[in-house]
Amino acid sequence: MVKSILEGKTVVLGVSGGIASYKAVDLASKLTQEGATVKVVMTANATKFVGSITFQAVTHQPVLTNLFEDSSQSAISHVSICKDADIFIVAPATANIIAKAAHGLADDALSTALLTASCTIVMVPAMNSQMWLNKATQHNLNVLKNRGIQIIEPEVGRLACGDEQAKGRFPETEFILNYMKDFLGKVQSLRGKTILITAGGTREPIDSVRFIGNRSSGKMGYAIAKAAKTKGANVILISGPTNLQPPFGVSMVYVETAQQMLQAVINNLSQADAVVMTAAVSDFRPAMKSNKKIKKESMPSSIELELNPDILEAISNKKDKQLVIGFAAETDNVLENATKKLKKKKLDLMVANDVSHPDFGFDSDFILAAFISDYGQQGSLEKYRKTELAEKVVEWIASKLA
Ligand code: C5P
Repeated sequence: MVKSILEGKTVVLGVSGGIASYKAVDLASKLTQEGATVKVVMTANATKFVGSITFQAVTHQPVLTNLFEDSSQSAISHVSICKDADIFIVAPATANIIAKAAHGLADDALSTALLTASCTIVMVPAMNSQMWLNKATQHNLNVLKNRGIQIIEPEVGRLACGDEQAKGRFPETEFILNYMKDFLGKVQSLRGKTILITAGGTREPIDSVRFIGNRSSGKMGYAIAKAAKTKGANVILISGPTNLQPPFGVSMVYVETAQQMLQAVINNLSQADAVVMTAAVSDFRPAMKSNKKIKKESMPSSIELELNPDILEAISNKKDKQLVIGFAAETDNVLENATKKLKKKKLDLMVANDVSHPDFGFDSDFILAAFISDYGQQGSLEKYRKTELAEKVVEWIASKLA
């Protein structure tokens, strides 16, 4: 018999209180039959629709229903239930739990457990169609989606309230199972791997308030961090100053200067399986830095510069067997220059990107890029959304680390 991808996986199943709660019993049962360990956490309202004993019977696991269960008596608690979880699915997810999760509330076992999860979270909303369409619900769903939480949209059909052909229906168990299997298949590709990513530009101080910087927004590196996290990697994101929200579940290290970035990369190198340098590191810094703001009257007529370390070159001498990926922003002879840098910096992959056009590259959501590996150029420059290119880079890493 073909082994199910669910075999050996740990699934946390959050059940909130809607009429579809009873359908979650079938989901819990099928997940268990496919070999997953299913740990159920229910809201108080869900227990009005289905008894916790039903879930316990189909999963053969204790079920968590309140925050104050004596954890010395019970094998699980709201803080330990997500330990080792591969996926956390909330099915059905009511408008209430969606709102709580969007705002980080933690007033019962399910909402609290959700805050402790570092695995992928999937929500399966099911509710009355007016509640689904309500702007507050839609806003909260967008907040969750932006945080990387997966949403399985409800189906259109007959609802418990009697509405026909309305959106809000809980999908068939098979559909949810297939979604989870498909998702876990993709998530698995970087599970257990650690990916170190740098993003944003560095700032090289002239005095206590001024610096030499660049236009890098950090979008590319943050998109790669999010894509790697979604595939199950442990992600360390070393970031220069940006306006971006840290991706969910990623370990952040904030730095300002090239020297701090080099140190942070070296500190984390040994645990990494791959390093992706998207950061726009300043090649030089002022040789002297004033600790106070330089007065207009004492303005220097010139600023002497000195070279910054090249982080990629520094780590290619220190690295063990990590894959190393660079990004080369070029304005002319893009592919040729990027190929030279791939060789000089001893990289496994260079993503060449053409920044000669104002619509691409720095601060844009789009990038004109081509992959150059140690086997040579792969294709020509193509236009990508940065999120799309991030997927490609992460797939490339996954294929090499497999
Ligand atoms: O030489 P260039 O800056 O164009 O090379 C780009 C690649 O080198 C990027 O991946 C960038 O993050 C990395 N880099 C570095 N240390 C520097 C400058 C660039 O690691 N000082």
